[in-house]
Amino acid sequence: MSKLKNVFEAGYLVALVVFIAVGCGENQQNDKKTETTLEEKSSDKMVRDVHSFSNFQEVASNHIHLDLTVDFDKKQLKGYARHSIDNIKNSDSIVFDTKNLTILNVFLDDRRPTQFSLREEDELLGKALVVKIEGNTKSVTIEYETGAETEALQWLDPVQTAGGKHPYLFTQGQAILTRSWVPCQDSPGLRITYSANVQVPEHLMAVMSASNPTERTSNGRYEFEMKQPIPSYLIALAVGDLEFQEIDHRTGVYAEPQMLESCAYELAEMGKMVELAEALYGPYQWERYDVIVLPPSFPFGGMENPRLTFATPTIIAGDRSLTALIAHELAHSWSGNLVTNATWDDFWLNEGFTVYFERRIMEDLYDKDYVDMLAVLGRQDLTKSLEALDPKDTFLKLRLKGRNPDDGMTDIAYEKGYFFLRMLEENIGREKFDAFLLAYFDEHKFKTLTTETFLNYLNENLADVGIDQLNVNEWIYAAGIPDNCPEVKSVNFENVEQALAGFYDQSLTEAMKTSNWSTHEWLHMIRNLRKNTTQEQMNQLDQKFKLTEVGNCEIAAAWFEKAIEHGYLTPSVEENLEKFLVKVGRRKFLMPLYTVLKSTNNVELARGIYSKARSNYHFVSIRSVDELLDVRLIE
Ligand code: BES
Ligand code: ZN
Repeated sequence: MSKLKNVFEAGYLVALVVFIAVGCGENQQNDKKTETTLEEKSSDKMVRDVHSFSNFQEVASNHIHLDLTVDFDKKQLKGYARHSIDNIKNSDSIVFDTKNLTILNVFLDDRRPTQFSLREEDELLGKALVVKIEGNTKSVTIEYETGAETEALQWLDPVQTAGGKHPYLFTQGQAILTRSWVPCQDSPGLRITYSANVQVPEHLMAVMSASNPTERTSNGRYEFEMKQPIPSYLIALAVGDLEFQEIDHRTGVYAEPQMLESCAYELAEMGKMVELAEALYGPYQWERYDVIVLPPSFPFGGMENPRLTFATPTIIAGDRSLTALIAHELAHSWSGNLVTNATWDDFWLNEGFTVYFERRIMEDLYDKDYVDMLAVLGRQDLTKSLEALDPKDTFLKLRLKGRNPDDGMTDIAYEKGYFFLRMLEENIGREKFDAFLLAYFDEHKFKTLTTETFLNYLNENLADVGIDQLNVNEWIYAAGIPDNCPEVKSVNFENVEQALAGFYDQSLTEAMKTSNWSTHEWLHMIRNLRKNTTQEQMNQLDQKFKLTEVGNCEIAAAWFEKAIEHGYLTPSVEENLEKFLVKVGRRKFLMPLYTVLKSTNNVELARGIYSKARSNYHFVSIRSVDELLDVRLIE
């Protein structure tokens, strides 16, 4: 063990003892931690969100009405946001978050002028907008327009779409990007309802994380309403040449007309998924569940915008093999959207629960063997992340003060979170654990909570089943993976391993029985290629299975990564890799590929490809790749 690690671990041990001593670390930023009463602890009211300037605990916006015009020529949104407010502590000013917004004017109630000012800019958090209010102020209207660099928005030229004729716009709010297109109290600790009037060019359709149209209007005007209270990061908008196709009475899909049919085929199980999810953890609270399949530059696999999941087209594999992603975003309708992390330090409450819930849905939709494959792949991801991350970033409870909350989007929240919950399930028994989760979602619906509130709830409700024996604090407040992490293995993958062993023994691809392999088996095969695989063996596999030309993006990305790692950078690999990276903007694929190019002395190739691809990417992907390749290109 290195000296550094020892020092670190000693430090962590002290920290852990303190956490346990004060009854599990509420408000690490709060110096008065020991004075916190139990009552305060369970209310979460005094939790500070270090990623928002807003004073929502004193005066809270509770409804936003947006009136916006979408201008594709100027690549700008312009209009107003009217906040209905609740002045809890009789404050004389309300503070909003903004980033790169031009504030044109601010009014109280019926156009009463008021004083307002923008505070100094913080590079990460943007600028606080401070508005003077009066004792009886009911609403604050902010007239504004978006700036040239609006981090949440991606404006696509027609060539970047499937149809090639119309421009496209989509937003991405999580984690702290909503403030770049809506001036708001941008903290997940606050919930708001919203309504919107949006004007778009006549031939386009607008959709939001709200009640949605299913047909284009003749004048490009659309009205929306989100009646259930949500955190601001879930406000979302997409505009493009869109059409809608129903899947069942409460589910459907939006996409460009060219893709609609293949999307509807791929997502045909959505209605069933909602039913299975409800059977597990209670009624779906958002009325409809639709999905919009976006152009390939969308930086994520999926985003759980309520009523309307935003999804990457890279899940349209033709064989429904990547629908776990839809189960994941659907599961967020409970974990995340209904019960929300109070701060980004508690991100695992959103994602760990969602991965657990996603796999339960998939188990019911298919079977245990299917989930075993997902869990083994997840465990591989986790092992890889643990090697790459600073141990301090491998606690479930994060400490993101002064950092971009995006940095917390690692396999820790997702997979360590999943294995923690699976460990609880295995020890407590599925029946009891399911009853616990059902009650958890019900009792916290439309609320936000911290890790500590969750822990209190866990200890109160599972005291009789020996929860104190399960290393819970170690899972949450310590680095790495505790000893009681469940072991996972997959029968399907044993076949893959056998096929691979046969290949290495005899160099024969003929004997490999791959005809019934799903995406997951291919991923397992590719990930398990041996370090000493020769160029000839890579070539053999490539010839036989046409991996360099494969259309399935998950398989392609995994294969390219291995090809680069093994120096199998043939002209054809290089050409297809470039095509892939120029077209697809999903960060989960970009980062491993650019990273392996960099670590194999191919940084110039990486930069060359990136110079062609960068303008196709959304801000969140650009931010990550810029940092990795140490480039800042002038567009
Ligand atoms: N909510 C996340 C996406 C996200 C997290 C965006 C943090 C911004 C900040 C979404 O639910 C998600 O987890 N997407 C995954 C897919 C999933 C199957 C693991 C993705 O995009 O890869
Ligand atoms: Zn998620």
